[in-house]
Amino acid sequence: MPGDILNDAFFDSFSTSTLALEQAETLPPACYTDAAFYEFEKEALFNHEWLCVGRESWVKDAGDYFTTQIIGEPIVVARGRDNVVRAMSSVCQHRGMLVAEGRGNARGFLCPYHHWAYGLDGELRGAPAMERTCDFDRRSIRLPSFKVEIWLGFIFINFDAAAAPLAPRLAKVAEAVAHYDLAKAEEASPPVTASWAWNWKVMFENNNDGYHANKLHRGPLHDFIPSELATFPDADPGDAGFLRFNGTTHRDASLNPTQKAVLPIFAGLTEEDRHRATFANVPPTLSLVLTNDLVLFLILRATGPESLDQDVGVLVAPGAKDDPSFGHKLEMIMTSAMKIISQDMHVDELVQIGLRSRFAIRGRYSWQEGAQSQFNRWAVPRYQETWRRMSGRKTPAARPTVVA
Ligand code: FES
Ligand SMILES: [Fe+2]
Repeated sequence: MPGDILNDAFFDSFSTSTLALEQAETLPPACYTDAAFYEFEKEALFNHEWLCVGRESWVKDAGDYFTTQIIGEPIVVARGRDNVVRAMSSVCQHRGMLVAEGRGNARGFLCPYHHWAYGLDGELRGAPAMERTCDFDRRSIRLPSFKVEIWLGFIFINFDAAAAPLAPRLAKVAEAVAHYDLAKAEEASPPVTASWAWNWKVMFENNNDGYHANKLHRGPLHDFIPSELATFPDADPGDAGFLRFNGTTHRDASLNPTQKAVLPIFAGLTEEDRHRATFANVPPTLSLVLTNDLVLFLILRATGPESLDQDVGVLVAPGAKDDPSFGHKLEMIMTSAMKIISQDMHVDELVQIGLRSRFAIRGRYSWQEGAQSQFNRWAVPRYQETWRRMSGRKTPAARPTVVA
């Protein structure tokens, strides 16, 4: 029966994934395939962690909004007339229609179904023909709203009204990427969204992975970021993110056939920065790939046990787009990046099939997989603590708490 795997022995067994890397083994394959585990994971991770949903530049002006979804929750993010960025459920509090789609600029949200009208702050401003409805107090109704925090220009939300702030727990990551000044970096082009048929962790772990760099990606488009030059700074148990520094074989390496930066280098980078690529991970949603002339950001949005949507965006140094040949140079990088990414996608797709197999086991790690260990040390305590809490109560996972 689905859900049978969720028991004390299953969760106890996770502890071997948090051992020192030389001794650790991977998480059980069921964590990547099982529908009951995914439901459990919503409460263990997604209902309480900070989730990246986009860039602040997507809501630059008052009235700007964008919509997104994660773990099946439709979300609208909007900048109010008071300049405050808010995130809300986009579920109409009448009969469940979504009050916003896509992106745009608006004075508020008019539900297309029966024209209930909400402000940019989520308050219900109008509800036609409701005057005969008993005990209907329009002022008590609003779109449920979520906590918002902006970190280096990325908008994070939290379904948990009691969540502690994010930034203090990302201090080490912020320090490692400080010289890129990401809050001021500019988006090179609109983000691209695609849906994929694998568990979000398969993709997150691939983004973390230093081991495959010069195996799967062997060739002139990637060889200058060899696995042997990967290092993994220690993360503390309280940290909300972790890092991989990957040395490069030459200064100012970049993802294009020249192997050298073609766009302007981020102005604040040190010599140390210029001899490495930096990979920053903020589970369960944000992965950053920082090269000297271009930063890729990947927002992973779980949609099911074996599916996710991913938004991919590109950040460049302020002013980089002023170069008349910017588009051609960017195309050069993105053509190379897409070749590399398509190798990753192929692997992710087949790993998911492998993890579903009866022959999938808990594997062992190379020293070049330090970030997988960091991920396990982030996830396993949350899984085990949530299981203790839930199994003790013998009740299903709590619904997300929302800010009233
Ligand atoms: S569902 Fe939105 S107004 Fe009826
Ligand atoms: Fe890769």
